[in-house]
Amino acid sequence: METAIRNYEDVDSWKTVMFLYTAAIKEVGTKLDILNDEFQHVHRYNPIEHIKTRIKTPESIVKKLKRNGHETSIENMVKYVNDIAGVRLICSFTSDIYKLAEMIGNQSDLKVLSIKDYIKNPKASGYKSYHMLVSVPIFLSDSVVDTKVEIQIRTIAMDFWASLEHKIYYKFEGNAPEYISKDLRECADMVATLDDKMLQLNEAILACLEEQEAPSPGQIVDAAIAQQEGLLNRTQNA
Ligand code: GTP
Ligand code: MG
Repeated sequence: METAIRNYEDVDSWKTVMFLYTAAIKEVGTKLDILNDEFQHVHRYNPIEHIKTRIKTPESIVKKLKRNGHETSIENMVKYVNDIAGVRLICSFTSDIYKLAEMIGNQSDLKVLSIKDYIKNPKASGYKSYHMLVSVPIFLSDSVVDTKVEIQIRTIAMDFWASLEHKIYYKFEGNAPEYISKDLRECADMVATLDDKMLQLNEAILACLEEQEAPSPGQIVDAAIAQQEGLLNRTQNA
């Protein structure tokens, strides 16, 4: 039997939709775990510190639809709310973010639908993060449904800022006094400075270790002499 490719528009029940988003999070989560393990295997280093996943609550979905002027319906939610399934990747360094984004982009079964680089172009709030909207095929018994997942990639420092800013700003319901918004933007700059410093420090440490691991000219000469002596002994004994 041929598998039918279904569109979102055909998926009409709340239960089915939620089932699909939960499955999509599992699929993407597993893919990222494997990428992280492979990276550890090849480079002896984990680009992902940790992964957080969440499904948007029905209340938030309805709120977002209303805010954007859409009627509340399953069809609209699937069409217009792109972050029902959310995966957040927290990494150590800014350079890890772009490595991960590339690795995700190279997964042939994931479709990258859009990218928002709030690191190169931070939001007015000071928010920094790299967002990818992807779709992943979910194989059901009689069909395949491409399901959207929002992936946010950020450093520990960016995540620290975003979590606290969200908590603080939430209390003001978007109407924070200007001096508070300004202070938050300043904190975002401090966090970016910290990220830059940590990246530089990591690069300096790696260069230092490489130097220590590399043999000194004296060690190279000693090794060459030892090898020659070995060869001589072998020819003499032959
Ligand atoms: P949302 O309706 O907030 O989802 O925005 P959007 O659909 O226009 O997408 P956008 O890329 O602007 O933001 C997506 C997500 O990024 C949000 O749901 C938040 O998790 C995060 N985000 C965006 N802007 C900010 C911000 O200023 N502060 C914090 N803490 N998080 C933000
Ligand atoms: Mg959102």
